[in-house]
Amino acid sequence: MLYTCVAACILAGCSPTGDDKNAVIEQKVESLLKRMTLEEKLGQMNQISSYGNVEDMSALIRRGEIGSILNEVDPQRINTLQRVAVEESRLGIPLLIARDVIHGFKTVFPIPLGQAATFDPQLVEDGARISAIEASSAGIRWTFSPMIDVARDPRWGRMTEGSGEDTYLTSVMGVAMIKGYQGDSLNDPTSIAACPKHFVGYGAAEGGRDYNSTYISERQLRNVYLPPFEAACKAGAATYMSSFNDNDGVPSSGNKFILRDILRGEWGFDGMVVSDWTSITEMISHGFAADAAEAARRAVDAGVDMDMVSYAYYKELPQLIKDGKVKQQTIDDAVRNILRIKFRLGLFDNPYVDENLDVLYAPAHLEAAKRAAVESAILLKNEKQTLPIPASVRTLAIIGPMADAPYEQMGTWTFDGDKNHTVTPLKAIRELAADKIQVIYEPGLSFSRDKDTKGIAKAVAAASRADMVVVFVGEEAILSGEAHCLADLNLQGAQSELIEALSKTGKPLVTVVMAGRPLTIGKEAALSSALLYSFHPGTMGGPALADLLFGKAVPSGKTPVTFPKSVGQVPIYYSHNRTGRPVTGNEILLDSIPVEAGQTSLGCTSFYLDEGWTPLYPFGYGLSYTTFEYDNIRLAADKLSVSDTLRVNFELENTGNYTATEVAQLYIQDKVGSINRPVKELKRFQRVTLKPGERRKLEFKLPVSELAFWNIDMKKTVEPGEFALWVATDSQSGEAVPFEVTE
Ligand code: NOJ
Repeated sequence: MLYTCVAACILAGCSPTGDDKNAVIEQKVESLLKRMTLEEKLGQMNQISSYGNVEDMSALIRRGEIGSILNEVDPQRINTLQRVAVEESRLGIPLLIARDVIHGFKTVFPIPLGQAATFDPQLVEDGARISAIEASSAGIRWTFSPMIDVARDPRWGRMTEGSGEDTYLTSVMGVAMIKGYQGDSLNDPTSIAACPKHFVGYGAAEGGRDYNSTYISERQLRNVYLPPFEAACKAGAATYMSSFNDNDGVPSSGNKFILRDILRGEWGFDGMVVSDWTSITEMISHGFAADAAEAARRAVDAGVDMDMVSYAYYKELPQLIKDGKVKQQTIDDAVRNILRIKFRLGLFDNPYVDENLDVLYAPAHLEAAKRAAVESAILLKNEKQTLPIPASVRTLAIIGPMADAPYEQMGTWTFDGDKNHTVTPLKAIRELAADKIQVIYEPGLSFSRDKDTKGIAKAVAAASRADMVVVFVGEEAILSGEAHCLADLNLQGAQSELIEALSKTGKPLVTVVMAGRPLTIGKEAALSSALLYSFHPGTMGGPALADLLFGKAVPSGKTPVTFPKSVGQVPIYYSHNRTGRPVTGNEILLDSIPVEAGQTSLGCTSFYLDEGWTPLYPFGYGLSYTTFEYDNIRLAADKLSVSDTLRVNFELENTGNYTATEVAQLYIQDKVGSINRPVKELKRFQRVTLKPGERRKLEFKLPVSELAFWNIDMKKTVEPGEFALWVATDSQSGEAVPFEVTE
């Protein structure tokens, strides 16, 4: 017998405001809608990108041709344009000003992938709140964030913008960002509307090449890619963005199944859907529409309310309506969705921004950005406790193209971050070391792609004079992000040669990688005594890394994505399904295969002859300066019914010498299902800070209903039977603990 769960959202709907407030807003929407001409309605559905000429834009706004502007960040200009909309257009409907505030506005936080590495949703929420405070102070009331695309291919440059490979972690972090952006009420002038994107499946781009097609089955869509978006809806996300990709042949901006049936029908979403940039007319390139008119018809019918910059709606819909090809009702519904958000944001009551706010780069914002950068750094190797830098070190060599690269450490999508406010590791280390340690700086290479090896000799000479060497390598900001995909994930330029040359000095070598994605750094890791990975850490990356290197802070980040040994292993992720031929551990790798070995002599299991089956670093992995031990993992009950809550008790002890934080993780496996279920799935995590020697009793609680998945009958269901769970430090550790779900 199967138990079907009814998603709470279907009953409750995904509206962010209370019923009374909603009713008042609905009345206002209806009465305004009644007064609107068709042109004014289509104007609301039209978003443009700001361009220099305020006069030109004002003329369009005055005519009611524009509902929203993106990429305008100057508060005076925003007020000028808003005044035209409110005071000079016939109906006075305010503009909605949008911007890609992805990981901070002026104060830049670590890239979202780095924020995910913190496994600290509160910190992520706080960061998003700060982003909202700063962005709204410029007049921005809508951000195109969070990106909650599950991404399992680091070649895809946009992995940097999301929370990595895991559905649950992505859901939790997406919700945290939405809460931070939207605050307690959208109506608050410091709140900005969130826009979960890209709906949907965009992260599964074939070959990790941006904008490419995806082939996600409905079941996989529902089990892996949709849950973060459903969680976002429950969290009250005000808007959604339809993605560029076509899935199984249907571009998202023309996909009624996802935009109407699932988002509105199943989840009860009543906010606004915006297309991605020209993604409506891009349906012509997809071969899904013959011309702009057909593209506009397909998009509006599918449920895209606002057209980001293609102008297809404004130009094509009048004729389509006249010809009866698009219903007036469809337009009215889209306009309702748009006006509803403008009312919820309080724009009709309070359209203007206070031009005298002074909140950018506030000390508390910088402090929060530093904390985020501290928590996001992942210690991947620390041979013989190389780190923290011991007091015996008198001379420290700082090497590498990322040691003093203020622009690059901010990462992608930092339109508004100012490199002059960035503190680099070199600057921070010099400050921290002050007169106690002599710091010798020799970059060796001038930027990450630099192939000119002339400077390496000087770097080696500097290293030879030092007691310890810290080399900062990685990727420039431009190497990840939208459209910035890579087929080769090795360190760029001559960075690997630089590390090799430094390692030959025999000095303790600490490698710090600042990058937008996991890189294939096995060789460099082997050459280094310690390896610290910092996904582009933002404005305060330098002080954060300096604190970590000197032991003023202890690393606690965990990998939010599996690190492959080589690109050939991609996609490689921990939560894969089970093959009929899993590895046994006795597999023979390339160099051990006898010449003329028999066809079946190696065993027939699922692995690569050259790379085996394990990644470089698994999901959830990260070391500390201290050590932790898990003990006494016990279940309050090991036979549960679907209405029960699983309670897992365990003890965690700090067995080392530093006060430090561990991210304890709970994974489950559904042993037998009506479909193949993943080997492991993350279900809970918690950050626990312990003093040296401290032992604490802890608990994970998991309602059994959260073991539900979309099964063979395409029903969200908990299937009774045998399960296993792990409480562990990462996705590959710990002992399986069995439990059973009964009918
Ligand atoms: C295209 C990107 O895909 C999307 O993420 C972004 O929000 C829009 N451009 C607006 O800049």
